[in-house]
Amino acid sequence: MNYKSTLSEIKDFLDSNESIWNHEIIYNYPNTLSAYNEHHLDLLNQLSNDELWKIDARFDFSPIRETPLLSLINKTMSFNQIIKKYTPTQLNLPLLAFTRIKDKKHHELDNLIPLIIDLKHKLNFHTVIDIGGGVGHLSRILGSYFNTEATCVDINQDFLTQGEINHKRLHPKQVANVKFHNMDIRKTPIENFNNELDLFNANTFVVGLHSCGQLSSKLLQTAVQYKVKGILNFGCCYFKYDHPRYELLSHHAQSNPLFINEQGLTLATRAHTYISKQDFQNKLQVKSYRFGLHLLLYELLDHKKFITMGDSPIKDYFNGFSSYVLKKLEEHHIQHTLTAKVIEHYFHDPNIQKQIRKMFLCNLIRWFFGRPLELYILLDRAVYLQEHGYHTSLTHYFDEKISPRNVGILGTV
Ligand SMILES: C[S@@+](CC[C@H](N)C(=O)[O-])C[C@H]1O[C@@H](n2cnc3c(N)ncnc32)[C@H](O)[C@@H]1O
Repeated sequence: MNYKSTLSEIKDFLDSNESIWNHEIIYNYPNTLSAYNEHHLDLLNQLSNDELWKIDARFDFSPIRETPLLSLINKTMSFNQIIKKYTPTQLNLPLLAFTRIKDKKHHELDNLIPLIIDLKHKLNFHTVIDIGGGVGHLSRILGSYFNTEATCVDINQDFLTQGEINHKRLHPKQVANVKFHNMDIRKTPIENFNNELDLFNANTFVVGLHSCGQLSSKLLQTAVQYKVKGILNFGCCYFKYDHPRYELLSHHAQSNPLFINEQGLTLATRAHTYISKQDFQNKLQVKSYRFGLHLLLYELLDHKKFITMGDSPIKDYFNGFSSYVLKKLEEHHIQHTLTAKVIEHYFHDPNIQKQIRKMFLCNLIRWFFGRPLELYILLDRAVYLQEHGYHTSLTHYFDEKISPRNVGILGTV
């Protein structure tokens, strides 16, 4: 698959819309709003919340058909075509195998285990190393039901201890197949990875299932350095980098770089494609309070620079705007003389409501850029593996309604 040309294509598209995706609406307000086309906003403003939900959930675009806005949205979604679809073979394991496994993890394992076993037959690797493997469900099942040596590596000793207890209790006869190893993958230099256990070599297959931020990059670099037989990686939490922006891995991307800041990386992380009606209604409520608070800070309290106010428990967004605002102002030690009555009056002013809705509509458009951003990051990683001689593919391995970070990078020698 020629990922380089798609990487360049996405880069060009994202470059021409950088002022949208690299800037959260409330950061640098009101300048951020100028990135959005007024015709697009007018069009969305005429729609009901129900119609907006269907657009946000990407299942009914009929109210905006044959408009430049829909062309833009279609373009953001068009790059998805490069990702292959996956049909797993049936995994018939006893229920015992899935003891204490939540539905999401169960779904992921149902899809990945047949793939890993199939690859084991084809590539003939000896050991699977599951990096950031948590309590080690993947390693336990591979070791206990497929006679495959597996090591679960994690930074969290509590997870590993719990995993070892589970394994001994559930599969006492297969204890030897599975190891649990404590290691900080991010802080340990790659050349020291084999210091304690001889884990990484040309006979190993590395898995990183939802490796946060920089951890994924480090895994891919490790795979290349130790020339492992294969690697399967799913990224997540793309904003978790030591540096305030994404670090490109491939030479191809580095030669014509796209700069994705923390706001862009946060957007890439949230780029799931489905939202239920209930979640959409909650989002409307949460955003109206958050945007309302920032407008109030900007206009009534003269805080012209953005201040991070942080999330609140969901119930706080349903208990009246003034009590939400007063709590936040107190939490952040912001001096003021505002009363609940003044705050409510401000919030219900038709002009403020209009501005909040405009910000919501901008945000709705902005979220469509999450997936191409995520794909850009994944393609950079895939091209990096290709540049180092790996056969590489990007595939949707999970149902995105169950597990939204569902695109895996598979690299094999
Ligand atoms: C998002 S969870 C994924 C867990 C598991 N792979 C799964 O899919 O359920 C990330 C895991 O990576 C581990 N982790 C985070 N930073 C790490 C590091 N620097 N070195 C090793 N493991 C790390 C965490 O303890 C956690 O278990």
